[in-house]
Amino acid sequence: MPVFPQIPDANVETEVIKVNPLAPDEAVISRAAELIRGGELVAFPTETVYGLGANALDSAAVQKIFEAKGRPATNPLIVHVSDSESARQIVADWPESAQKLADLFWPGPLTLVLPKTKEIPKNVTAGGSTIAVRVPNHAIAQALLKAAGVPIAAPSANRSTRLSPTRAEHVLKSLAGRIPLILDGGPTKSGVESTVLDLTDKGPRILRPGPITFTDMEPHLDYLEYAPVQIPRGLLPSPGMMRRHYAPNTRLELASSDAASWVKELLDQGNRVGWLAWPEEARLENPDLRVIEMPTVAESYGAQLYDALHRLDEGLDVIIVSLPPEDDAWRAVRNRLTRAAFRGWLDK
Ligand code: TXA
Ligand code: MG
Repeated sequence: MPVFPQIPDANVETEVIKVNPLAPDEAVISRAAELIRGGELVAFPTETVYGLGANALDSAAVQKIFEAKGRPATNPLIVHVSDSESARQIVADWPESAQKLADLFWPGPLTLVLPKTKEIPKNVTAGGSTIAVRVPNHAIAQALLKAAGVPIAAPSANRSTRLSPTRAEHVLKSLAGRIPLILDGGPTKSGVESTVLDLTDKGPRILRPGPITFTDMEPHLDYLEYAPVQIPRGLLPSPGMMRRHYAPNTRLELASSDAASWVKELLDQGNRVGWLAWPEEARLENPDLRVIEMPTVAESYGAQLYDALHRLDEGLDVIIVSLPPEDDAWRAVRNRLTRAAFRGWLDK
């Protein structure tokens, strides 16, 4: 089981600054960039979720990320850069497949895992020889990268294993008092974290499904597979594949069919219940029930998922989720939901 570091007491004033996500204010960006260059942490929006950024070339700054999140040192970070040229400077090998995918999907929610160069501090990659790199498709993230002039290591801006943030309020909820600045660019667009693709000799294989799907990439590669999910602890191909992850504090259960009966049963037992339901299901009326009707299109569902779970993660005993179909388009959403529902070793 990974070691989750103790999160220190809140002792910093966290400032939240609203930034136009289409035309970020230069003065605000340059202040944020100065904090990054000075070894501090800044939370900022990307097209997927909010990231908690630090200068990826400064190991002391990177260390602060692990502390603020209570993240195990064994879980490596994604390094964000402004373009594929900058990506090439931090990887030791840039295969043709990387160039092809970068041309097709960058800037965008695709993270490539490649051999790293020596300049990257060890804690960024959790001591490993590979680095995860991506070019975010968001004007604030791009402006910050350009102004800072350094690659930015940024995991999702939440406490380790918990719900990812798709709004500045979500970041504030979990990291207030622990970081100096949050750039509030409003809700993020895609809402599900980037696809992580291993392009080392072991790949190409998908380590984490995300907005760029198997179907999107497969025609452009000689070969593509999913890394196995059910494997013994300690042998995970991506440490972030820890089974329980992306989880609300409230117990979460997946209903593969007839969620309504389950919800009713839980209510009858005296539980306060939250329910992520399909439009045709949301009928029950009960003061102890909070229903959020979810979209039937995977991309829209993904965009709303974390916000819906954040909203239900207060004052309820259990959250029931009507499980989306088993289909490539739904793969990323199902992956996050399955892991959010998993109650294994973390609850011991
Ligand atoms: O959309 C995203 O990817 C967001 C935004 C902020 O960019 N970031 C994000 O980071 O989700 P994080 O740290 O929450 O997830 C990073 C994932 C983890 O599953 C981690 O284990 C995996 O990427 N990862 C990072 N470096 C890796 C490496 N060298 N080899 C394999 N997996 C790696
Ligand atoms: Mg995360």
